[in-house]
Amino acid sequence: MYDFTFYNPTRVVFGRGVFPKLADELAKGGVSRVLLLYGGGSIHKTGVYEQVVGALNSHDIVFFECAGVKANPVVSKAREAVEAIKANKLDAIVAIGGGSVIDSAKGIAAGSLYDGDMWDFYARKAKVEKALPIYAVVTVSATASEMNYTSVMTNEELGHKVGLSNELLYPRCTLIDPSVQFSVSERQTMDGGIDAICHVLETYFDGAKGLEIQKEYAEGLVRSIIRLMPILRAHPDDYDARAQFAWAAVNALNGTTWAGHPTRGEFSSHAMGHTLSAKYDSIHGETLSAIMPAWMKYACREDMPTFARFAERVFGTNESSEEERALAGIECLKGFFASLGAPVALGDMGIPKADLPELAAHVTRNGPIGSLKKLEMVDVLKIFESAY
Ligand code: NZQ
Ligand code: ZN
Repeated sequence: MYDFTFYNPTRVVFGRGVFPKLADELAKGGVSRVLLLYGGGSIHKTGVYEQVVGALNSHDIVFFECAGVKANPVVSKAREAVEAIKANKLDAIVAIGGGSVIDSAKGIAAGSLYDGDMWDFYARKAKVEKALPIYAVVTVSATASEMNYTSVMTNEELGHKVGLSNELLYPRCTLIDPSVQFSVSERQTMDGGIDAICHVLETYFDGAKGLEIQKEYAEGLVRSIIRLMPILRAHPDDYDARAQFAWAAVNALNGTTWAGHPTRGEFSSHAMGHTLSAKYDSIHGETLSAIMPAWMKYACREDMPTFARFAERVFGTNESSEEERALAGIECLKGFFASLGAPVALGDMGIPKADLPELAAHVTRNGPIGSLKKLEMVDVLKIFESAY
């Protein structure tokens, strides 16, 4: 184990019917005026809006609304919310949704206490020094944004999708009711499972040696998600499967997987995926189903024993050589993603082959990426070509 500091201040309230507890949490935090931030309307269909508003009204908490946060959230929408918070002197954000809404809330929380433009944080022109408290009401599980300190935002004018991490951005409290996720579409559920698996693997394959407990923890999470996805595909209203997946997804990226690792993860496949989302608005999980197996194939020679171990422990492959086992494991993972109906080739996502050089240049615009294997533009291009 490498030395580490583990810090995660988010209180998690989990279970059926927990959303009305939001009001107690806000009152406990001394919050009386909030911005309700949400997406395109699923919260009206599922009754979550009524649950939250009823709870706020019962405690006389004043609220203003900002609706319409889209998947792959954009900074122009977040700027609108910052204006509303400043104009109405609000003291917290209630983010109702999944990664896109919660990520937006994080940027808005920092932007509301900043005199300049909130994109400055994402462009690394300013550091977050203050942020409003965030309360997350989770309606779709995938990203773990509800229990981590990262926000990923797209600047439509620049065509950049960028991550921002800061300890001030952890939600103060997160409420997760898996039963409201019965209505999440099959496609979104499967994409969420793929995303959570890739979160674990981005850290698992960072080249660290030893770390037995961390490797077993990661393998257990991946095995569990692989077990749960077909159940959720067949039975979207299986409470126990929704609940297990909701907690697995949180643990896949709330800091527990990288404690004791020398890095906070590889995240090259994510960087490549964000470039596709910025340019084509591609769904996050589907960028990963196409790219991560191709990255694994490209990088596995840097740490064959770990790739072979992954294949054995997760898919039970037993080819005689380490290399054959490693490559078989990558094929199994790709096959699993395909079995969920996700694209495993960039061509199937409608991405023009002629764009690949430009995309590779964009991924490496600030220099090489990656930790297990340093990737220059030419490496990224080879990965895109093999993923095509
Ligand atoms: O907008 P509405 O109508 O609410 O519909 C949403 C949206 O279309 C729908 N949905 C949510 N709850 C539902 C529901 N539909 C039916 N029933 C419900 N109960 O789900 C759709 C997708 O929502 P979104 O929030 O975009 O999904 P996800 O949670 O996968 O978030 C993806 C975003 O998070 C970023 C991604 O890049 C992407 O922008 N990520 C954030 C990370 C983080 N903060 O640590 C890490 C990840 O790697 C990722 O980059
Ligand atoms: Zn992700």
